Amino acid sequence: MQLERELALEFVRVTEAAALSAGRFMGRGDKEAADNAAVEAMRMVFDTVNIDGVVVIGEGEMDEAPMLYIGEKVGTGALPQVDVAVDPLEGTNLVAKGLPNALAVVAAAPRNCLLHAPDIYMDKIAVGPRAAGCINLDASVEENVRCVAEALNKKGQDVTAIILERPRHQHIIEELRRLGTRVKLISDGDVSAAIATALDWTGVDILFGIGGAPEGVLAAAALCCLGGEMQGRLMPEDEEDEARIKEMGLQDPRQLLTMKDLVRGDDVIFAATGITDGDLLQGVRYFGSKATTHSIVMRSKTGTVRLIQATHQLDKKPRYVARSSSCSPRA
Ligand code: FBP
Repeated sequence: MQLERELALEFVRVTEAAALSAGRFMGRGDKEAADNAAVEAMRMVFDTVNIDGVVVIGEGEMDEAPMLYIGEKVGTGALPQVDVAVDPLEGTNLVAKGLPNALAVVAAAPRNCLLHAPDIYMDKIAVGPRAAGCINLDASVEENVRCVAEALNKKGQDVTAIILERPRHQHIIEELRRLGTRVKLISDGDVSAAIATALDWTGVDILFGIGGAPEGVLAAAALCCLGGEMQGRLMPEDEEDEARIKEMGLQDPRQLLTMKDLVRGDDVIFAATGITDGDLLQGVRYFGSKATTHSIVMRSKTGTVRLIQATHQLDKKPRYVARSSSCSPRA
């Protein structure tokens, strides 16, 4: 059963709610409070969406998370049956510190079409549509940069790579610098970074590096809509991780994951709302009883990308905005 186009706007309502709630906590140094606010708001709005949804990428296992845990049913229960991947606050540290690129994110696809990835690391490489088909996670950094440069009709030194600044990536960063590639180091937020490779205005061409596997599936859903490409490889640390991956349907826990493994079929919807200002979207702005949000919503079936700017009357949405009194607009 296909996802009706009307659902796209419904998913934006879901990410807007999470962003409006989490945005109140910007710069307050409390990433857990920001995350809880996003999760609660997102969960609440999901109750109004006409889907029979199951969370396949969420806040953790049932015993770890009170809401939006893996396996939780979301939506009114009406058809269609969908897999839902959520990250109510992608970039908890970014919000806590008031840094750019925190997003509220949702992806949905017909049942069993999103990879059910456990919360472990994934090695990733991602590019936008013009360089799709030319990357290879198993090839060297040099080879990937050369192929992307060719595809984009650029010199290698004009290619911009984006990567999480982590000690585990030092060798990749050094190699990129040796090649003369432009490098954008980010402290967090590799969903936004992966999407940036597919949006010309960001100036980002390729993402390298290891980040969360759930974030990998969300980014792949977005790139599926944008015609980009992502490859990944799960990085189990022990036999328990390997067993979880096998339970989730992958025979070889370390197999190369291509787009069709990450997102099956061509019927995925992806929505994100900016929480803090970023390369993709402006963050939430509050003006007394009003607030504005900027969102992106895309559908792989048609390839339509919509940017939605909304003004919200907060006094008419008190249930999911500013739940903590110390964060109320008048405090
Ligand atoms: P959170 O929103 O859960 O804090 O994740 C942010 C993030 O930077 C992701 O974008 C990225 O995939 C992952 O953390 C990287 O993990 P680590 O911080 O352990 O390197």
